[in-house]
Amino acid sequence: MGKLDGKVAIVTGAARGHSEAVAKLFAKEGAAVSICDVVPVEVLEEQVGSKIREAGGQVVCFQTDVSNEDQVTAMVEETLRQFGTVDILANVVGIAGPTKDVWDMSLSEWKQTLDVNLDSLFLCSKAVLPVMIEKRYGKIINFSSPTGKQPLSHRAPYATSKMGVIGFTRTLAADVGQYNINVNAICPGQHEERSLELARGRAEYLNKPFDEEDFRTRFMERQHNEKAVLAGRWLADEGFAEKGSGSEDAASLALFLASDDSSSMTGQDINTGGGVMW
Ligand SMILES: NC(=O)c1ccc[n+]([C@@H]2O[C@H](COP(=O)([O-])OP(=O)(O)OC[C@H]3O[C@@H](n4cnc5c(N)ncnc54)[C@H](O)[C@@H]3O)[C@@H](O)[C@H]2O)c1
Repeated sequence: MGKLDGKVAIVTGAARGHSEAVAKLFAKEGAAVSICDVVPVEVLEEQVGSKIREAGGQVVCFQTDVSNEDQVTAMVEETLRQFGTVDILANVVGIAGPTKDVWDMSLSEWKQTLDVNLDSLFLCSKAVLPVMIEKRYGKIINFSSPTGKQPLSHRAPYATSKMGVIGFTRTLAADVGQYNINVNAICPGQHEERSLELARGRAEYLNKPFDEEDFRTRFMERQHNEKAVLAGRWLADEGFAEKGSGSEDAASLALFLASDDSSSMTGQDINTGGGVMW
């Protein structure tokens, strides 16, 4: 018996990373999952949808830009048509945005990050809430970041958006608690591909050399050596944090927040990032 048997979940940005892990775990635990990404739907089918089906799960895939209202509405309507309801929304999509200082950045670069990272939460939540309110049941899980609680140099739009995710989470939690809908945020750790992209972008912007092979071989070590985990330094120094806290930990927390094990938790923002303590 799975923890999400009989439930229907929408998971955004599922072609890779944390969201792929969330979608697979939700399906393994019995949820019918509706997954979307901006990549072509055949790619999402092949990379994730087919694997969920092979493992015995129920899935439907969409090519959806979650910052586009019409596309979000169409995805939610088709999910309702195919699965009959929606119980869980995991707003995982988040782009890194530009690595630039504010004075080097265009307004459109600033806006694109906020569109994808914040409008998507608004649009997806708005689309599923009438169903959740009517059934007096729902779980909304938003992906913020440790950067939602601290600055990140040269990345103002991303940090601002992730702080906004926490503000949205708390406010929505207050608004929909009366309908038995829980809204929580996860501040996850890293995974290798995205960390690589970010490190390369940062090196380029700062005109510093970048060695991909070295980065890949020392990925976990770097997380600690470069003080990515600030308040958790003692964990690394004392040999606790041998591994990074990536997609699996984030997915496990998402499962807890999507299940009735966390029925009285709402408005929280929880770190899974290897010892971050704020
Ligand atoms: N990986 C990290 O280091 C890290 C750390 C802290 C927080 N986070 C947060 O966790 C979440 C997941 O991060 P990740 O690293 O797994 O992401 P990722 O970059 O690996 O994957 C994001 C997915 O979202 C898709 N996507 C991008 N824009 C989209 C759009 N407009 N509509 C639909 N899909 C879109 C991409 O195609 C991609 O498949 C994000 O919100 C991110 O900000 C990640």
